[in-house]
Amino acid sequence: DRLPKIAPSILSAEFADFGRECEAIEAEGADWVHVDVMDGHFVPNITFGPPLVRAIRRHIRTVMDVHLMIAPVDPYIGAFADAGADVITAHAEAGPHLDRTLQAIRAAGCKAGVALNPATPAEAIAHVMDRIDLVCVMTVNPGFGGQSFIPAMVPKVARLREMIGDRPIHIEIDGGVTPETAPLVVAAGADVLVAGSAVFKGGSVGRPGPYGANIRAI
Ligand code: DX5
Ligand code: ZN
Repeated sequence: DRLPKIAPSILSAEFADFGRECEAIEAEGADWVHVDVMDGHFVPNITFGPPLVRAIRRHIRTVMDVHLMIAPVDPYIGAFADAGADVITAHAEAGPHLDRTLQAIRAAGCKAGVALNPATPAEAIAHVMDRIDLVCVMTVNPGFGGQSFIPAMVPKVARLREMIGDRPIHIEIDGGVTPETAPLVVAAGADVLVAGSAVFKGGSVGRPGPYGANIRAI
């Protein structure tokens, strides 16, 4: 199937219309749906939790890629898994026991991802590669959509590609992905691209935007 996969982030969707928005992006070519969970503690913003994942689950069939920008993580893994998450990604910086967290995500029946903030080196995954199905490279500082891509992250993508070799681990890029920045990270080895503002621009309540064109442009 087509690579790179495109995972629109609902952080940039119309919050008053999540069901319709998710149906629209799925119908118009989204490979995954990226759900940005923020707790106002690990990141300076608050979004939504398991109830929203459960609500969206009823509207789409495709992969729900849940990005937990929360600390602690472990107490909430079960609730997100029960709500219908397919992939649960925890931040390497969210606590001292990443290996245990990743085991708990898989034990809950989900694919396990680890997200790396911009300052966190690729080597942070060196000793958990057997525990993960995905590494998410933050190409912005987490908390908000619509920020600018951090070019210094491109070498980190290449380093991860080298470390991962032929292991079945996705390299996901998250933040500031546009038609201009996407080729840089795909060339470096990324295979899943999260995009919020680049996909949802132009939409509003009751009037989904040109999502298909925005998705295909990336
Ligand atoms: C930021 C989130 C990203 C963000 C991407 O904390 O993790 O997924 O929504 O939004 P854009 O694509 O607009 O940078
Ligand atoms: Zn995200």
